[in-house]
Amino acid sequence: MKVLILSMSLVFFVLSCKQVDKSLEIEKEEVVYDMYQPSEMANLMNEMYAQNLEVKQDILAGKIPTEFPLDFLKIHTAEMSEFKSRNETFQSFSKLFIESEKEIFNTESQIPVEERFNNMVNLCISCHQTECTGPISRIQKLIIK
Ligand code: HEC
Repeated sequence: MKVLILSMSLVFFVLSCKQVDKSLEIEKEEVVYDMYQPSEMANLMNEMYAQNLEVKQDILAGKIPTEFPLDFLKIHTAEMSEFKSRNETFQSFSKLFIESEKEIFNTESQIPVEERFNNMVNLCISCHQTECTGPISRIQKLIIK
């Protein structure tokens, strides 16, 4: 059980964008586990990841995605970890991201759905490059090759 808790907290720290020294965290594993409270934004991000993974699988299976997940609009308001701020760069990236996500569900678009999907993933990455680089390698796995 202890090993499980330790590996779970490690997963959180590798995936989240807190730039903490991991060796320190290992020593205080249980404390860290108890204290780790994902922000509303972190939860939303994980949900966006999971839902887009499903969209990707649908696209690969030849199904046309039709319903934009309205929950994603929370990106404009969700509370973030205290070390992050909703500055202008963040706001413009959120807008661009939401527009690109909506395009995936635009059944009248002339652009191939794979391309529209990858545009969206690239916007996830662009925003992450500005301040939260930790999850980028994970996000890259969403790209349709
Ligand atoms: C507008 C900027 C922006 C966009 C667009 C964006 N992210 Fe994030 N992401 C963030 C920020 C900021 C955090 C840190 C949130 C916090 O800790 O409060 C984050 C955190 C994350 C995390 C870590 C969550 C955790 O458990 O700590 C993942 C995974 C993630 N994003 C995936 C994605 C995916 C997938 C997309 C696209 C579908 C995406 N992000 C789009 C800014 C963005």
